[in-house]
This record gives sequence, structure tokens and C-alpha cells, in this order.
Amino acid sequence: MVAVNKINHIAVVVNDIEKSLAFWQDALGMELHEVRDVPAEASRVAFLPLAGAEIELVQPTSEESGIAKYLAKRGPGMHHLCLEVDDVAAMLAQLKTKNIRLINDEPRSGADGRKYAFIHPESTGGVLVELYQLA
Ligand code: CO
Repeated sequence: MVAVNKINHIAVVVNDIEKSLAFWQDALGMELHEVRDVPAEASRVAFLPLAGAEIELVQPTSEESGIAKYLAKRGPGMHHLCLEVDDVAAMLAQLKTKNIRLINDEPRSGADGRKYAFIHPESTGGVLVELYQLA
């Protein structure tokens, strides 16, 4: 079996990162590590590290993006849970043998070289799960 090592991040979709930071940063007192644009996903993200994992706030920057459509349909809230694995390709192969429905059949590569893939909520009990392999 391919090892699942830890929770890397929990992503929350928001309408407005600055307004959301009033809760996460100002009221809860969590540290804000970074806010950055992700043009490839037409979104802005904010990272709040916590005990080796992160809360990731995601705000769409275009009406056309997948995140914008999700927000329009379901409103703000928890979007996905990201698990770190040693080998995304091997995990996808393992999941296929168990008939788990995948959103990405093959690993995708982020701008920073990380490999990732998403598992369909239909096979996970309703939670969108992302797999991450650090470079
Ligand atoms: Co993610």
C-alpha cells in the first residue's frame, strides 16, 4: 500500500480573502504566511500554517473558473482536504484497482513542481480529496 503521511492542507472557498482573514487571522489569531495569485486556477490563495499543515483560503478571480462556479452553486465553505502521499502516481494506480472514481487519472504538476491529483467526492463519502506529493 502507498503511504498517506499527513494532512497537508484544508481548503476553504471564500468570497473575499480579506474579509475571511478577519476571522482566521484577527479573531482566531492564526498567523498569515502568504497571500498569492494562482493565475492557472484563476484564484487567489492565502495560507495560514498550523502544526505542519495549513488552512488554505481560496478566492476566485474570474467568473469562469471552477472555483467561481463552485462558489456560485454551493456558497462559501469547506472545499477540499489534501493528503500528502509518497507517490501520487502509485496511489492513483492503487485507487484504480479499488474502483475509486478519480477526477485526475494522472498526476498533475504545480508551478512549484509538486505533483497532485483529485479524487471524486462520489467515492469518498462526499469530501473532495486532493493528493499531494512534495517534489
Ligand atoms: Co489544495
